[in-house]
Amino acid sequence: MRFQTLDTIDVTGKTVLVRADLNVPMADGQVTDTTRIDRLVPTLKEIAGKGAKVVVMSHFGRPKNGPDTKNSLRQVVPAVEKALGAPVAFAEDCVGDKAAAAVATLPAGGVLILENTRFHAGEEKNDPELAKGLAALGDVYVNDAFSSAHRAHASTEGIAHLLPSAAGRLMQAELEALGKALAAPERPVAAVVGGAKISTKLDLLLNMVSKVDILVLGGGMANTFLFAKGVSVGSSLCERDMADQARAIMEKAAGGGCEIVLPVDGLMAREFKANADHRVAAVTDIQDGEMMLDAGPATIELVGRKLEGARTLVWNGPFGAFELMPFDTATNGVAAIAANLTAQGRLLSVAGGGDTVAALEHAGVAARFSYVSTAGGAFLEWLEGKVLPGVAALEKHA
Ligand code: 3PG
Ligand code: MG
Repeated sequence: MRFQTLDTIDVTGKTVLVRADLNVPMADGQVTDTTRIDRLVPTLKEIAGKGAKVVVMSHFGRPKNGPDTKNSLRQVVPAVEKALGAPVAFAEDCVGDKAAAAVATLPAGGVLILENTRFHAGEEKNDPELAKGLAALGDVYVNDAFSSAHRAHASTEGIAHLLPSAAGRLMQAELEALGKALAAPERPVAAVVGGAKISTKLDLLLNMVSKVDILVLGGGMANTFLFAKGVSVGSSLCERDMADQARAIMEKAAGGGCEIVLPVDGLMAREFKANADHRVAAVTDIQDGEMMLDAGPATIELVGRKLEGARTLVWNGPFGAFELMPFDTATNGVAAIAANLTAQGRLLSVAGGGDTVAALEHAGVAARFSYVSTAGGAFLEWLEGKVLPGVAALEKHA
């Protein structure tokens, strides 16, 4: 490990500032997906169990004009209490007198959540004064927010230069899983990259073709590649103006020994809606006015064979319009194959980013993947090969 962990840093009896990612989805005042909270709890318990005061910092939403109740972290406190099985205190500010008073009255082994760090403009500017104000509240910094590590903000980056710093257990698990998947993987390595557009994933695809042995493309972006190869795509989602970029990616892949796998058949429909009338056809047989809303059975079989030959899999993005049944069939089918190979010990499977976790959960296989990341944007930037500032700051202090 190139960073400290809770195994190497001493937190006993200290005041520990934990950067968490409590940026969880909410509806009607309720947290609708507690994954990030559930995965954070072991870190909080471990630190609290050593008699430390646990002071949790996080952003929530994207407030731009100071405090507002809609973006207050107060509303997340009950979900954290429930997951932790213990009361959690709350401070109405993340720095200054209110924060200091709340830390002072927190008992050893207690957990306190500070108000949204983004209520201060200095957070996103990585303002050294804000970082200093945060650091003044504790003795040690533990970053457990891999999913925010692509942001160079005061609470994710700046503060790590001011205090002894370590990765929390979730951050550690994310970095270990991601390292096994791409930094030092067992080969062959396959990647499944799906989603609507290649324009948002150009850097990712260019990096992937230089790192993996097999690149399986799904979702709308596969249409752009088919179009770039001269295949008619009918009315399918397709970025025609990205054909040159798609060709450049295919050339780079061919030059570097990366096999690109595109759909060979699909579910063709004339309407973009659940249960739309559709037919199975080869990709070369799409009619005017038809849209490919999912990959077809021959593609599922083809991708399954490719995964059988791989040892490592990185997955980002769905195959088709997985929110609309039955156009979730290929995502579900390929995900089930990957989960089974993983269960048989034949494949290390790591997934993350954006819709991916929702798609795998919908497929009912998330728990059978080797690792599912809690990160959206950070996972994508990692797939792009970028240095994540929150991780780099921890490494500097190892
Ligand atoms: C996320 O949900 O992806 C992280 O919490 C980062 O949030 P952000 O995209 O608003 O920086
Ligand atoms: Mg994001």
